[in-house]
Amino acid sequence: MKIFLDTGNLKEIEAMVPLGIVDGVTTNPSLMAKESGDPRAIIKSICDLVQGPVSAEVVATDWEGMVSEGRELASIDPHVVVKVPFTRDGVRATKVLAGEGTRVNVTLIFSAPQALIAAKVGAAYVSPFVGRLDDISVDGMGLVQQIVEIFEAFSFATEVLVASVRGPMHIVEAARMGADVCTCPVSVVEACFKHPLTDIGLAKFLKDWEKAQASRT
Ligand code: E4P
Repeated sequence: MKIFLDTGNLKEIEAMVPLGIVDGVTTNPSLMAKESGDPRAIIKSICDLVQGPVSAEVVATDWEGMVSEGRELASIDPHVVVKVPFTRDGVRATKVLAGEGTRVNVTLIFSAPQALIAAKVGAAYVSPFVGRLDDISVDGMGLVQQIVEIFEAFSFATEVLVASVRGPMHIVEAARMGADVCTCPVSVVEACFKHPLTDIGLAKFLKDWEKAQASRT
């Protein structure tokens, strides 16, 4: 399963890329609004750093505006994936952009029929928002399971990109379900590195090693 970072912050991405675990990045208007500087330049810098799919979202709400903005975003770098919200206009824009060879990530997916429709019009990715569903007592990962089953049944090439991830267990469940991608805030990736038994085990290894060295001198 691929791991994307869910951030528009260059420092966060710079710190994570050398670990070799970042396959791509997703942004959205809320994340980009937190960053200072020209959004176009930030997206370009992210593409240069990651050399993998980088989702940049349109803010137009009519299909013609989405297509025009999508073309502009796609011209920034070949790694850009145009992110479009799941609306009637978003579906129409996805059909046009995908027909031109632009990869589209259909976002704000909260039901299986939405994912099916997005796949039918050629979305490269669908983004089910698991955390936001969990927040309202709906099983977010249950939705991912449904989408994975539907896409497998009809051999859709559309990738299931698990979004709105809140913790490492979302990553585990996404991987077990066979989702293609999990996009994670940096805090969630950091949490995967923490395990008390790893810390205790390493401390013991080093202490035993030091003791053995001291007894030899
Ligand atoms: C990613 O594509 C989404 O925009 C993001 O995961 C949303 O996450 P949130 O629900 O934590 O805002």
